[in-house]
Amino acid sequence: MIVVLIDLHNERNYHSRMRPLLLLLAVLVAAPVGAQDKVVNLYSSRHYQTDEALYTGFTKLTGIKVNRIEGGEDALLERIRNEGPRSPADVIITVDAGRLWRAEQSGLFQPVSSPVLQARIPDSYRDPAGHWYGFSLRARLIAYNKDKVRAGEIQTYEELADAKWKGRVCMRSSTNIYNLSLLGALVDHIGDSKAEAWAQGVRTNLAQEPKGGDTDQLKAVAAGQCDVTVSNQYYYARLARSDKADERAIADKIGLVFPNQASWGTHVNISGAGVAKHAPNRDAALKFLEYLASDEAQRYFADGNNEWPVVAGVKVNNPVLVAFGDFKRDRLNVAVLGRNQPGSQKIYDRVAWK
Ligand SMILES: [Fe+2]
Repeated sequence: MIVVLIDLHNERNYHSRMRPLLLLLAVLVAAPVGAQDKVVNLYSSRHYQTDEALYTGFTKLTGIKVNRIEGGEDALLERIRNEGPRSPADVIITVDAGRLWRAEQSGLFQPVSSPVLQARIPDSYRDPAGHWYGFSLRARLIAYNKDKVRAGEIQTYEELADAKWKGRVCMRSSTNIYNLSLLGALVDHIGDSKAEAWAQGVRTNLAQEPKGGDTDQLKAVAAGQCDVTVSNQYYYARLARSDKADERAIADKIGLVFPNQASWGTHVNISGAGVAKHAPNRDAALKFLEYLASDEAQRYFADGNNEWPVVAGVKVNNPVLVAFGDFKRDRLNVAVLGRNQPGSQKIYDRVAWK
């Protein structure tokens, strides 16, 4: 840990008092001091073991060492904001286009583009100005208790607001970025007033006050506290692939719907990354983004969190994702989810969805 921190700051603290220590550490970690293009400082809110293979693969391919700084999603962005122009961050990786949008609004990214990124990342999964790119895909699904709801009984997000579900819906908080992005998509597809009526309807249908994360909603559905909820697919996949029998039993109780297949498609979002505004190693950072778009990295990156690759034609090996099969995805550019975020929060607040 100490090695990482000192190495991160080596461009700034390189005065004589520190020099012997830095040289020693440089030998220990085999990272040439001052060779800016041989290191990339990665600020990531991902912490999956498979990401390890990703970093090793990048270093093998390019000779560029990866310094990893991990933290919670919002804490990490706050840290970079506080570090200001002296931040050693080169690449920022986080989840949800809404959060990437927030980071961009705070001036944490610089725009970059390259023929590789242009060719491999579909338009709808990246910021049109190049501040961030999506590298894996998540879908927000409707989950139901198979003992209480028939297959096919609910097929759209809009139906969650129907009176028939009164007292039967569990939802997490409206400040949660996933729900803000979902409402951002609804605003785009059905307009402000219908989206507000939807939020009001779902709010009225709640079986309990919003609390907990997606996994908590799935557990509540399995336990019969409510009949339907929404969750990202990877929370279900984690339960279904768990080595604990009680977690697999939760997944067994749950049926999943890919909503809106007959209309605008299932709401999808991204895990993504961009080059930090003050990146000391900008070229290495861009190389890292391009590497994330490679077939090999796409598989590791997506599978690390049970997500789909964004690059077309990259094969998924994950058994749960394979079982899901193909589905119609919302084609909305995910940048819109960010743009609609302040309005979405106001709608949730007006209907008193906590
Ligand atoms: Fe998540």
